Amino acid sequence: MAALELRGVRKQFGEVVALRGLSLEVASGELVSLLGPSGCGKTTALRIIAGFEHPDGGELLVEGRDVTRIPANRRNMGMVFQAYSLFPNMTARENVEFGLKVRGQDRARRQRRADELLELVGLGGRAGRYPNELSGGQQQRVALARALAIEPAVLLLDEPLSALDAKVRLQLRQEIRDLQKRLGTTTVYVTHDQEEALSISDRVAVMSEGVLEQVGRPAEIYRDPRTPFVAEFVGTMNRLEGKLAGPTSVLVGEAGVPLTVQAGHERAPGEAVLVLIRPESIAVEEAASAAEVDSARARGSLGGRVLAFTFLGPVTRLVLDTDLGPLVADVPSIQALTYASGTLVSLRVDPAGTHLLGAG
Ligand SMILES: Nc1ncnc2c1ncn2[C@@H]1O[C@H](COP(=O)(O)OP(=O)(O)OP(=O)(O)O)[C@@H](O)[C@H]1O
Ligand SMILES: [Mg+2]
Repeated sequence: MAALELRGVRKQFGEVVALRGLSLEVASGELVSLLGPSGCGKTTALRIIAGFEHPDGGELLVEGRDVTRIPANRRNMGMVFQAYSLFPNMTARENVEFGLKVRGQDRARRQRRADELLELVGLGGRAGRYPNELSGGQQQRVALARALAIEPAVLLLDEPLSALDAKVRLQLRQEIRDLQKRLGTTTVYVTHDQEEALSISDRVAVMSEGVLEQVGRPAEIYRDPRTPFVAEFVGTMNRLEGKLAGPTSVLVGEAGVPLTVQAGHERAPGEAVLVLIRPESIAVEEAASAAEVDSARARGSLGGRVLAFTFLGPVTRLVLDTDLGPLVADVPSIQALTYASGTLVSLRVDPAGTHLLGAG
């Protein structure tokens, strides 16, 4: 039985349909992130789970029990908001013990528990500090401790790291994940940052305009996007319009792209398809002359030239003008040292890194 289940949840604000029948199951101890662009309904979904918002239709179940009509304060959920959600006039300890105080726990016990939790999030020595005496990252740690204090059945996090700088964000997201695993807390994590979702989650639920596009393990979502939206939103993707020429080859304009079509995904020749190619699935080789590019073509490669490049550390991202049209390719930076705008290249697309979607 799922620890948390949304069944066909709908929500409308006036003219705006925020959720169009959202169904999702989260297993006990699992961390599922809701990933999608601004306005796609992530916060609305989270607020409905928490009970701060009522759905217009559908059901919400916690461990098989329908809680759709149960008020927020009786749902046993812990929530961490985007930023600045601590009570400013309370110390870190008072913030963390707040939920326990509301539940009528005695002072000594709840203070002990608050101190334990602050220890757990690495703020053992700072229980007496007020929020304005803590850094952004420390404030979010307090917010996390506060959400965990009540031992929630479900932990809900709404872009908890978005107000923090890049380095703190990386560190804290790893800490959140470690802590979540250690405590085994069922968690829904909202983010619009695909890297964050891919790195922290057991499964990722990609949303667009109030609809769930795809749910899967991070590697599945990255390797096997099922819709054009997921392909575009998760990672960088080259997208070409083509036509199936045979069981394993696609024509894009005049050039053929070799492909491996997964078993069970065979398609009829002549069918219009979208060919999706990850930048890291394109092998690029520098060519000394146009004649060299032609002889590479004779051996089945594609020709192209470098239009622009961006150094990204270990890899360099090339924008290429190729026989297939413009393509983005990532190559090891060490290889790209000699490249300039106009450098001639030959390239091969790794068939295993190529992906087909019906164009419809
Ligand atoms: N209280 C409200 N009243 C009116 N419209 C609302 C309300 N809350 C949300 N909406 C609308 O519902 C849609 C979904 O909003 P939601 O806050 O769930 O998006 P989101 O995915 O969390 O976006 P972001 O990444 O920007 O936080 C948006 O079009 C938003 O304007
Ligand atoms: Mg939001």
